[in-house]
Amino acid sequence: MTEFHYVPGVLPTMLATTRRQRAKDALFIPTLVPYFRPGPILEIGAGCGQLSELLAARGLDVTPSDVQPFLVDFMLSRGLQARIMDATDLVSGIDRHYTNVLAQSISVLITPDLELVEETYESVHAALPAGGRFIFILPNLWGEHWSRARDHLRIADRAGFDLVHRFRHQILPSVLYSQLPGAVLRAADGSLGRLLGIRWVFIFERRPAAGVERPAIADAGSED
Ligand SMILES: C[S@@+](CC[C@H](N)C(=O)[O-])C[C@H]1O[C@@H](n2cnc3c(N)ncnc32)[C@H](O)[C@@H]1O
Repeated sequence: MTEFHYVPGVLPTMLATTRRQRAKDALFIPTLVPYFRPGPILEIGAGCGQLSELLAARGLDVTPSDVQPFLVDFMLSRGLQARIMDATDLVSGIDRHYTNVLAQSISVLITPDLELVEETYESVHAALPAGGRFIFILPNLWGEHWSRARDHLRIADRAGFDLVHRFRHQILPSVLYSQLPGAVLRAADGSLGRLLGIRWVFIFERRPAAGVERPAIADAGSED
């Protein structure tokens, strides 16, 4: 496992970020929900589990996971059914059938180490059934040494995913999301945010194996 310096001492900083982003996340989740296939969701690299917590509050069947035991302990302390899982080797740790995998800013995908990115896509692909969805949120800030959107599109395709949809998200600084009216924020993110937002949201779907019929999973998401 590659180390990314997530040690217990960083938890207060992670929690402060989570708190700062909470209003933004609460507004974002209803945008994201229609893209999941019906069925269980596995969140990988969930950190403090804030996205899973918001999804669970809407009644979705979501399991947050992380490779770091101290983060899984934290999520368990919040009442989440969290698990230790290495995103680069999901199949060996998987406990049940998931129709969706969710990841936001997970180290092994935002890294510029594209071999590790590729390994992670292959791991997610192996963990999903054909037609299952991988929703990945990639930060898109200028000047950071992260992997780029075009690398993800190429690597995901090679790993066996179709791109169903992609859009950008979050046009304003996180702190403003607790200060401005929801209608204003939704209008801003739904227009300028889609073009210039600081994150990419990719909706990938696992292709069926060649010559195999696509399974009949009822479509829950809007696609274009
Ligand atoms: C930038 S944090 C993002 C946390 C959370 N997804 C969020 O958006 O707040 C990166 C996370 O990736 C996790 N991570 C790093 N390597 C991992 C691996 N091999 N498998 C699963 N999670 C991993 C870290 O422990 C950390 O929680």
